[in-house]
Amino acid sequence: MYAISAKNLTKSYDGKTNALNDLTLTVPQGSVFGFLGPNGAGKTTTVKLFTGLLKPTQGECTVLDLHPVKNPCDVHRLCGVMTETARMYGQLTGMQNLLFFAQTAGMSRDAGNERAAELLKQLDLWDARDKQLSEYSTGMAQRLSLARALVNRPQVLFLDEPTNGLDPESAQTVNSMIAALADNTGTTVFLCTHQLRYAQDICDSYGIIDKGRLIAGGNLETLCSDIGCRVKAGFRLSEGDSLEGFDADNGWWQAELQREEDMPKLLKKVIESGHDVFEARLIKPTLEDVYFEYVEHQEVAE
Ligand SMILES: Nc1ncnc2c1ncn2[C@@H]1O[C@H](COP(=O)(O)OP(=O)(O)OP(=O)(O)O)[C@@H](O)[C@H]1O
Ligand SMILES: [Mg+2]
Repeated sequence: MYAISAKNLTKSYDGKTNALNDLTLTVPQGSVFGFLGPNGAGKTTTVKLFTGLLKPTQGECTVLDLHPVKNPCDVHRLCGVMTETARMYGQLTGMQNLLFFAQTAGMSRDAGNERAAELLKQLDLWDARDKQLSEYSTGMAQRLSLARALVNRPQVLFLDEPTNGLDPESAQTVNSMIAALADNTGTTVFLCTHQLRYAQDICDSYGIIDKGRLIAGGNLETLCSDIGCRVKAGFRLSEGDSLEGFDADNGWWQAELQREEDMPKLLKKVIESGHDVFEARLIKPTLEDVYFEYVEHQEVAE
């Protein structure tokens, strides 16, 4: 059983254009899936469809084999959702908000209290637990919103830009929590984000969506090979020296390799041809490099 699955999932808000077009994907249990794409690509729409906040125009989706529209209660019991629209109560304190949501999720008062305290401490909100939410800063409210999504220990967690508006330290805390959730508790995470560097650290696989269509999917290696993003060899030589057929980049001479395994032979060749090599390195494509390749490629194709 997949944690998350969509088949030909399509959503039109206006009956004319599709905000989401024919999305087919699966996410295995216990993995962290990064859902990436420009503004307006359809990420939030997808999360809303998976969590039953919207009905598909066509196609279907399931979470742990359950249909969000047919079984909204079961899906909500097993899922946690954090979106920009998931509001809490401004006149209640952080603690009261979490307790309220713990109890609506069916937890006892004691279990809810314990879980709320644990999350408030983990997310550095313990000192603000008795403050009204309306007095929280944006980043504090954002962290409380994550705590709310986690209060019922969900098996599947949908996070729509969870680090939006967080300072770098808080963003790091949230990212470590997400990674630990998948590692320690087997929680499946569906993460919409624009922060590609963080995504590369915590996601196992990705989907790239643009204008409602999935344009790429897989782990970083697959994404790289599908679009021909290759690893590069880089050499730093003595000043004034150069390498024919290589590109100069900030004091480094770089060339694409067919395969990583070609590096030792190339290094040997460069040395044997009389160059002094001060440093040599493999430059692997990052998620950011690959993302831009796909999105730009898509623009050219249009
Ligand atoms: N409630 C709505 N009514 C009408 N159109 C909508 C609604 N919500 C979203 N859309 C449209 O659907 C498309 C996809 O929007 P969506 O919010 O899913 O994008 P997104 O990938 O989450 O973007 P962002 O990165 O900006 O959050 C956009 O063209 C948007 O204008
Ligand atoms: Mg969005």
